[in-house]
Amino acid sequence: MPLVTFSHPEHKTKTVYATAGSHIDTVLKIAKANKIPINFDCQDGECGTCLVKVTSLDKKARMGGPPTEKERNLLKQLGKLTDGDISRILVDDIPPPWRLACQMIVRDEDILVEY
Ligand code: FES
Repeated sequence: MPLVTFSHPEHKTKTVYATAGSHIDTVLKIAKANKIPINFDCQDGECGTCLVKVTSLDKKARMGGPPTEKERNLLKQLGKLTDGDISRILVDDIPPPWRLACQMIVRDEDILVEY
């Protein structure tokens, strides 16, 4: 089971288990289930309130679910992705570090989520 470590400068760091391969558990869903106070509003990839930075804690490449077009577009609006980044995501299938917690699906990998 992957471990998700949530870190915030003003809150205690907390590490929780996530169900691997469910294909439905977003970072935000896991955070809410574990009372991690990530900010959110729309929960639908529209507002950007849930912006987080994700880092792999495994040695293997990051496996978080790739951002959808909707998530990519909002991250670009927020200045967290460039067109070059988007090309790399699409060609190399490597997710970017900045994600929307309400959109990112957790995969079988230990990650650090900074919120
Ligand atoms: S809560 Fe609005 S984009 Fe995630």
